[in-house]
Amino acid sequence: MSNYKRYLITSALPYANGPVHIGHLAGVYIPSDIYTRYLRAKGADVISVCGSDEHGVPITIKARHENTTPQAVVDKYHAIIKESFKQFGIDFDIYSRTTSPVHYETASEFFKKLYEKGVFVEKVTDQYYDEEVGQFLADRYITGTCPHCGNPNAYGDQCEKCGTSLNATDLIDPRSTLSGSKPILKATRHWFLPLDKFQPELEKWILEDHKEWKANVYGQCKSWLDQGLQPRAVSRDLDWGVPVPLDGAEGKVLYVWFDAPIGYISATKELTPNWEKYWKDSDTRLIHFIGKDNIVFHCIIFPSMLKAYGDYILPDNVPANEFLNLEGDKISTSRNWAVWLNEYLVEFPGKQDVLRYVLTANMPETKDNDFTWKDFQTRNNSELVAILGNFVNRAMVLTHKYFDGKLPARNTLTDYDNSVLHELPRIKERLEHNLEEFKFREALKEAMNIARLGNKYLADTEPWKLMEKDPRQVANILNIAMQITANLSIILEPFLPFTAEKIRKMINFQSKEWKLAGLDSLLAPGHILDKPQLLFDKIEDDVIAVQLNKLQATKLVNQNSVKNVPEQKGSISYDDFSKMDIRVATVLDAERVPKTQKLLKLKVDTGIDVRTLVSGIAEYFTPEEMVGRQVLVLANLEPRKIRGIDSHGMILMAEDTSGKLQLVSPAAKVSNGSTVK
Ligand code: 2FM
Ligand code: ZN
Repeated sequence: MSNYKRYLITSALPYANGPVHIGHLAGVYIPSDIYTRYLRAKGADVISVCGSDEHGVPITIKARHENTTPQAVVDKYHAIIKESFKQFGIDFDIYSRTTSPVHYETASEFFKKLYEKGVFVEKVTDQYYDEEVGQFLADRYITGTCPHCGNPNAYGDQCEKCGTSLNATDLIDPRSTLSGSKPILKATRHWFLPLDKFQPELEKWILEDHKEWKANVYGQCKSWLDQGLQPRAVSRDLDWGVPVPLDGAEGKVLYVWFDAPIGYISATKELTPNWEKYWKDSDTRLIHFIGKDNIVFHCIIFPSMLKAYGDYILPDNVPANEFLNLEGDKISTSRNWAVWLNEYLVEFPGKQDVLRYVLTANMPETKDNDFTWKDFQTRNNSELVAILGNFVNRAMVLTHKYFDGKLPARNTLTDYDNSVLHELPRIKERLEHNLEEFKFREALKEAMNIARLGNKYLADTEPWKLMEKDPRQVANILNIAMQITANLSIILEPFLPFTAEKIRKMINFQSKEWKLAGLDSLLAPGHILDKPQLLFDKIEDDVIAVQLNKLQATKLVNQNSVKNVPEQKGSISYDDFSKMDIRVATVLDAERVPKTQKLLKLKVDTGIDVRTLVSGIAEYFTPEEMVGRQVLVLANLEPRKIRGIDSHGMILMAEDTSGKLQLVSPAAKVSNGSTVK
C-alpha cells in the first residue's frame, strides 16, 4: 500500500428515496468508515467522500405517489440520511448531494467533453410514449402482462412475480401508469457509451492487472466481460435529472448512473480546491466501497467514462460486499423489511457501537449473511459486555481500589507478564494485514483478541487475591492491564469510535496515533486515571422481543397486503365506469330466504322506486340489523332470479381478506336516490 501518497475513499451514494438501513451500513458505510479511520490514525493523507444520489425514476415515482415534487422527496431523505450517518459516526469529510449546483456543472461538463471528443454513439430508437400526458415513459412507468407468467401487473423492466427482467416492448397489452392509456411507440434520440470499444482495455486492467480484487468482484467483472460489453444509453427522456447539455436535447436528462459516480468528483470539488490532486495524480489510491449490485457501474462503466475523459486515475480496488439479510429474508424497502437506522437510534439510544460491532462481526464480505436480533443480543451480552466491557472495567476498578487510580510502576516481570506484552504487537500486525485486505470481520476479531488477552491475564493472575502477599506483582499486573486498555483505545477507534472515545477519557489518554498501538508503555507510572464507567450493558430478552414483534407485525401486514389482497383488475375506461348507476337507498324490510344460509330478501327505497333484491349477507347481518340502514345499491344491474325471487340490483359491500363483509354507507345521511360517482 505504501507507494501511494494519498487516498481517496468513496462510498456508494445512497438513493435519497428512503432512509438508510442496516444493510447499507454493513455493506458499504461501516467498511469504508473503518478503513478511513484506520488510514487517518496512521497519519495518511486521506479524504472520504459521499453524498445522496438524488436523481432517477424511483424518486419521481415516489414524488407522484406522495403528491409532491422530486425535490421535496430528496430534501426530506437527504436530511434523514445525513443525520443517521453522523449519529453512527460514519465520518465522511463531505456528505454532499447530486442536486448541488457544483454537481450539475461537473456532470454537464463531463458529458460535454465526451460529446466533443466524439465518444458517444447517437442512436434513434422507438420508445413508449404516453400521448395523453405528452411524455416518454421510463420502464417503471409502463405495466402490462408478463409474457412468461401472465402476471397482469408486470413492469416495463421486470416482472416482480416471476423475477424475469423484461424490455418494455415485451409486455402484452402495455399501459401507461401515468394515465392508464395505451402508449404508442415513438422515435427518440439518445447518446450511448460504446462499452464494447473499451472491452480490450478493461480486460487487461481488471483480469490481468487486478487479480488481487475480491473473488466476488473479480468474478462478476469476468462474467460481464465474457458476455461481451454492449453500448449503454447515458441519457433518458425524463424531466428530473441533469439536463443533457446539447441544443435540441430539451426534455432529456443524463441517466442517473451516468451522473451519480460523477457525484464523487463533485463532492471532492466542494470539499477542497485541491481536488484534482486526488483525482488525477497517479500517486493517489482510489478505493470505491460499494454493494454487489453496483459492481458493473464502478468496475466497468465509470472507469470507461474516466478513461474516455482522460487525465483521471482509475480505482485501485473496489471491495464490494454481498448483501445482508434480516431474520432470513431479503431486506426490502417496499416491504418495510429492514432495521432503519433512524428508528434504531431512537430505540437504542447510545448504542451505536453495538450495532457497528454486530454488523462488522457479520459483515457479508464473501457471501450474503443474516442479521438476527438474537445474534445481536448474544454478541452484545457475551462479547461486548462479558469480554471487552468486563476487562476494561476490572482493570479500571482494581487500579482505583489498590492504587487510587494512579498507574503503579512495574517491577521485575514474570515470563507470563512478558509473554502477554509481546502478544500486543503480534495481534496488531495480524489486524493490519486483515484491514489492508479488506477483511474487516477478521480484523475485528483480532481487536477483540486484545480484550480476550487482558481478560485471561486477569483471570489467570487473580490480582485481587495477591494484594496482601505480593503488592509488587499486583502493581505489575495492573500496569500491564492498563497498557492493554490503552492499546484498546487506539485499536478500537476505527471499529467502535464511541467506545474508543470513552476509554480515552477514562484512562485520560488522548492519542489515536496508530503507530503507538502494540507498544507496552503507553501510560507512564504515576499517570492519573479518570473514573471508571461501564462501556456496555446487558440487553434483556424483553427488548429483543419488542423488535421481533415489530418484524412479526410487518410480516402480517405484508401477508395481508401482498398475498391475499386480490390483484387489481385490468383497467376500464371512464365510460365503463359511468355506465354503473349506484344509488343511496334505505332498507325498508328484510327477511331470511328460507332454506339458505347466506341470503336475505330486502325491500329497499332507492329514491327511484321501492324494489326487492336478494343479498348474500345473512352470515354477517340479521334482518333486524338491516332495517332502517342506508346502503349503496348498484341499481341498473340486470335483474336476476335468485331462489325464485326476482332481484333488482345489488347491495355494495366491503370484503376483507378473510371474506368478512361490512356495509358501505354514506358518511352522513343523504336522501334516497343520491347518486354515487
Ligand atoms: O445503488 C445505489 O444505491 C446507488 N444510488 C449507488 C450509486 S453509487 C455512485 F455511483 F454514486
Ligand atoms: Zn412474470
